[in-house]
Amino acid sequence: MHGPNLNLLGLREPGIYGSKTLVQINEILESDSRKLQVSLSCLQSNCEGILVDAIHDARNHHQGILINAAAYTHTSVAIRDALAAVQMPTVEVHLSNIYNREEFRHYSYIAPVAIGQISGFGADSYRLGLQALVNYLQQK
Ligand code: DQA
Repeated sequence: MHGPNLNLLGLREPGIYGSKTLVQINEILESDSRKLQVSLSCLQSNCEGILVDAIHDARNHHQGILINAAAYTHTSVAIRDALAAVQMPTVEVHLSNIYNREEFRHYSYIAPVAIGQISGFGADSYRLGLQALVNYLQQK
């Protein structure tokens, strides 16, 4: 699940977020999912309520959530509460290292309700996060 402005990856501040587009990142994750023998659905939205609805809906279709909530990471009690409500294993990822950037990015509302967080490895953060989520689900 991808949050706001991530539809502009590739164009958006490539020095910080890298040159891969969201389509390319989703393709990489789809290929990883096939190798891991899991199914994956990808969704990006710039709207908080759409992400909240998608988290609610995930309960009926999925076993875990891999999320880059982007700017909502640092602001959204609603997304955090949705994740807490559905009680699905969640891995939080960020392309950039949110801890070596502006101070307002250092706090994550998502982290306390996630299994763990991967931050700072560009598109590989998503790949590592997917692998970690699948490992967690398989060990349960
Ligand atoms: C981000 C980091 C956030 O602080 C920022 O608002 C984003 C992207 C990342 O992937 O590095 O939009 O989540």
